[in-house]
Amino acid sequence: MTTLLAFSGSTRQGSFNTRLINALPALAPAGTQIAFFDATVLPFYNQDLEGDNLPESVKALRAAIREADGVIIATPEYNHTYSALTKNTIDWASRPFGQGDIFGKKSLVIGATPGPGGGVNAIEATVALLTLFGNPIVGSVQVPAVHEKIAADSDTVVDESVAQQLRDALAAF
Ligand code: FNR
Repeated sequence: MTTLLAFSGSTRQGSFNTRLINALPALAPAGTQIAFFDATVLPFYNQDLEGDNLPESVKALRAAIREADGVIIATPEYNHTYSALTKNTIDWASRPFGQGDIFGKKSLVIGATPGPGGGVNAIEATVALLTLFGNPIVGSVQVPAVHEKIAADSDTVVDESVAQQLRDALAAF
């Protein structure tokens, strides 16, 4: 059994990145389980909260990543880089220094935009960050014109090319 922990870096209701994360179980190979973490419950990173003051939400994030074989991050692209929520979640998961639970985890990075870029800059920046942690990158999937590639009424990928890229990336874990 392969267990993966997925989170979206969007706070938006109806977020395409969140919807893509929701679509993943249907594309995962047999024997792969995907758990979801709602990153919007995390406080803004504050080093004063480390140690005895650690919020329960941060403990839950760290435990979920620790127990997972790999992480999946779907990030919006804001001004040519990852969203603040993506960075905030990674920052929490990267501490304590040198021992962060995200260190060394196999990683898949997804970016989705209604525009033509498919989050390429956000993906590159996220991959650079994860590579700094020594994380093997099993895949990166850009989804431009995402509104045409996911069903209007359900979290289902309707574009076969995108679906296959996601299947391949999930199988690569
Ligand atoms: C954007 N968007 C955007 N898109 C893009 O392709 N490149 C970019 O640099 C940006 N920059 C940007 C900045 C800010 C502040 C916002 C709010 C939006 C558009 C963005 O891709 C779009 O809103 C997505 O739908 C956001 O992802 P979710 O929330 O749908 O997951």
